[in-house]
Amino acid sequence: MNIKLYVPLLFLAGCLIVSCEPSMKERTFDQSSPDQKNLLNFYLNEQGEPFYSLSHNNKEVIKPSRLGFEFFNNKALLNNFEVEKVERHQVDTSWNQPWGEFKTIKDNHNELRVTLKEKQDSARIMIVAFKVFNDGLGFRYEFPKQAYLDSVEISDEKTQFTFANNEAVWWMPVHRDNSYYESIYHKNKISETDTINTPATFETKDSLFVAVHEANLTDYASMTLLHTSQNTYETDLVPWANGVKVYAQTPFNTPWRTVMVGETPGDLVTSTLGLNLNEPNQIEDVSWIEPSKYIGIWWGMHLEKYSWGQGPKHGATTENTINYMDFASEHGLDGVLVEGWNVGWDGDWTADGRAFSFTDAYPDFDLEAIAKHAAMKNVRLIGHHETAGAASHYESQLEDAFSLYHRLGVRAVKTGYVNKYLDKKEWHDGQYGVRHYRKVIETAAKYQIMIDNHEPVKGTGLQRTYPNLMTQEGARGQEYNAWSTDGGNPPEHTTILPFTRMLAGPMDFTPGIVDFNYETIPGTKVQTTLAKQLALYVVMFSPLQMTADLPENYNKQPQAFQFIKEVPEIWSETKVLNAQIGSYVTMARKDWNTDNWFVGAITNAESRTLKIDLDFLKEGIYYQAMIYQDGEGANYSTNPYPLEVKKQIVTNKDALNLNLKPGGGTAIKFKPMSLDE
Ligand code: NOJ
Repeated sequence: MNIKLYVPLLFLAGCLIVSCEPSMKERTFDQSSPDQKNLLNFYLNEQGEPFYSLSHNNKEVIKPSRLGFEFFNNKALLNNFEVEKVERHQVDTSWNQPWGEFKTIKDNHNELRVTLKEKQDSARIMIVAFKVFNDGLGFRYEFPKQAYLDSVEISDEKTQFTFANNEAVWWMPVHRDNSYYESIYHKNKISETDTINTPATFETKDSLFVAVHEANLTDYASMTLLHTSQNTYETDLVPWANGVKVYAQTPFNTPWRTVMVGETPGDLVTSTLGLNLNEPNQIEDVSWIEPSKYIGIWWGMHLEKYSWGQGPKHGATTENTINYMDFASEHGLDGVLVEGWNVGWDGDWTADGRAFSFTDAYPDFDLEAIAKHAAMKNVRLIGHHETAGAASHYESQLEDAFSLYHRLGVRAVKTGYVNKYLDKKEWHDGQYGVRHYRKVIETAAKYQIMIDNHEPVKGTGLQRTYPNLMTQEGARGQEYNAWSTDGGNPPEHTTILPFTRMLAGPMDFTPGIVDFNYETIPGTKVQTTLAKQLALYVVMFSPLQMTADLPENYNKQPQAFQFIKEVPEIWSETKVLNAQIGSYVTMARKDWNTDNWFVGAITNAESRTLKIDLDFLKEGIYYQAMIYQDGEGANYSTNPYPLEVKKQIVTNKDALNLNLKPGGGTAIKFKPMSLDE
């Protein structure tokens, strides 16, 4: 074929491949992002040890950092390599999501694949694949099938992340008290940290915002980061109980190690690097995947109004569920979650989950009648499977449990793993847990069921491949405001999550508490104003979004409830208008289904005025803005209730001053006006 025709054709396909055989002397290779701002370098030193580094606009982000592995049953793969082959690919394409924070995602990156071979007899091969995007770097190891590397027990992955300076990092500790990420985030210098979870978010001395995480965690252990010297972290894979980190057999690939790079904190929020590094959707028919809003027999348990187990306060009764369903139907909510419906909750259910049946209901919960009532009221029953960490016990009932729910028209199931360990000995985020959670997602998909997973392994973008993995917990959610002995989530908590936990994917934070007059534990309460609870619906993305409070409390707050009913769960566009991690953030998001825009702004304990330009709105159109803001005297600690609701006509040339009170927020709905309005 004529080369002049060939090259444009390849560009049309969105991918250009240039392959070259390096000369034996060539040991260093660069690859830049399409916008030339990020530059990746790979090199082998004299000893044949592989290193990579990353810069952004000539500012060092990651200094030369080591790559490699140690095994229990094989020699380490760390040195004595030569470069056997180098390939380069360019990709510029886009793909559509069935739901998300963006409808269309651009995948524009340059790839460098370096095949390394040991310089010895019985040589082994390790490929390092780097993808350099405008929003950062992803790289992974690939091990082809080969004679001298077959079945391996990884004892250590030696991937390093060496920062240019002793940067500030937003971090949370790894699996100690609990292994499902329910700690407060801290900000420290790198040198002051020990072992930290990902996503970990760095504010660099060069004014960059950098987040280290991983993508497509498949049949492997989660990566945590062990601080090994001044500015360096080394990968610390979460082990099996016997100390092995990962069991694998060639051919296999590791997850992608990701380094998101932004010039503002908002650049991290809108980064799509993690999704781009996951495999395309495997679920052909997505018609049953329904982003939706749900209420639940849930907050009542956390407030001790109801119990999960049987007794006079049992929450999951037929009558109570029917009342919740009637309320949901009347207010246009899509689903009703019911916890504590099934056998196994009596006594200390957290101690041993092997008492749980996922098919037998308690006698006061008529599952069939409830399913019929749901269908009649056009709401969905949302299922619940709490396992208390008894993963294999749950697996033994998985098919029966999902098939029962499928028959009854249930489309979403909330799963839970309240226990320090899975099956009494394995971490949630080791390879054991990763395999278990994947099995649940895949089995659920077979029965057309969406998953809302609590006490999960962290998100790594798998919702691209399995769009029935809707949302997860994996952080301190609203429930801590009911019973945490430390007083609940401090006001800054939700101004940190968007730049840390939320980079891992949607979160079932469960916003929407509108009544602050409860006392489960003296002094413990929701540390926000009412307006901030509304703004959280825009800030905290979850395609299954909860209206967390009790029906009787929504009846007392009709204005606030109106916003909760109207705010969408999924978005066709997302913009971060301003942000300072731990202090404030304002997001603007466009409804997936209409031309409405929504804004959510939240602050920490400080009051502040945030000026926002409305240039995200469409030119030449008048919008009616319904503004829900902190009223006079609103304060998260003394008086959370004052809410002022006002209407204003605006265009994209206008700006608004948002006045946020201590622990407060503003939520706005912008609706295009028709000519007769
Ligand atoms: C912990 C979950 O996070 C919470 O939402 C649920 O109510 C309890 N486990 C019981 O499953």
